[in-house]
Amino acid sequence: MPKNQNAAAINRPRLKQKFSRLLGQWGVFFRGFLEHPRMVGSIIPSSRFTVEKMLAPVDWEQCQLFVEYGPGVGTFCQPVLDRLPRDGTLIVIDTNPLFIDYLRRTFADSRFVPVLGSAEEVEAIVKANGFEHADYVLSGLPFSTLPDGLGPKIAANTHSILRPGGGFLVYQFSARARDFMARHFRHIDSGFEWLNILPCKLFWGWKRAGD
Ligand SMILES: C[S@@+](CC[C@H](N)C(=O)[O-])C[C@H]1O[C@@H](n2cnc3c(N)ncnc32)[C@H](O)[C@@H]1O
Repeated sequence: MPKNQNAAAINRPRLKQKFSRLLGQWGVFFRGFLEHPRMVGSIIPSSRFTVEKMLAPVDWEQCQLFVEYGPGVGTFCQPVLDRLPRDGTLIVIDTNPLFIDYLRRTFADSRFVPVLGSAEEVEAIVKANGFEHADYVLSGLPFSTLPDGLGPKIAANTHSILRPGGGFLVYQFSARARDFMARHFRHIDSGFEWLNILPCKLFWGWKRAGD
């Protein structure tokens, strides 16, 4: 067999495996959306462009505890684990048991802690896992469709669990989340990602010493 045909034949099963993993992931996500459309807020996971841009400002050397709200099928989990120090921890919190079961089955990393719960319980969850503070909190929550009063509560509890110097990383289709963040975070950077279905707004809220 010519050399390049040989390489194509070797790569085909890998491509097939990658494609079926992606389809499986999207299937679980879509089922989660059909069962709880307002809590999931999107029919398809975030793009790799959103993931890259959102995580770019994180200082990974200073990150012992990274918390994610609403991981869904784990679109951000592997990229976070790839960047996290070896002795770091990633706690992910989701209200949907379908997603938490899927994550438990999919990620074997000992630094990975999936929790079935709600983001507003972040302080109790972080403390129950032996930490006083989180270095970074990432949110993929659909703030515009969450039950009344929940968004402000989540923003307040996130500010309180972050260490000074830590960051609250938020992506959303609307700017609603920024309104809740602005009540607690005096320094908020903004961005935008076109290459996402739908294009989304990105916010980084920084907790400074004395805030
Ligand atoms: C738009 S999906 C984000 C999925 C994934 N992070 C991504 O970027 O592809 C929103 C997720 O938030 C979860 N969720 C909704 N309300 C929540 C809450 N109060 N606490 C934690 N997770 C919540 C949903 O179950 C869903 O997994």
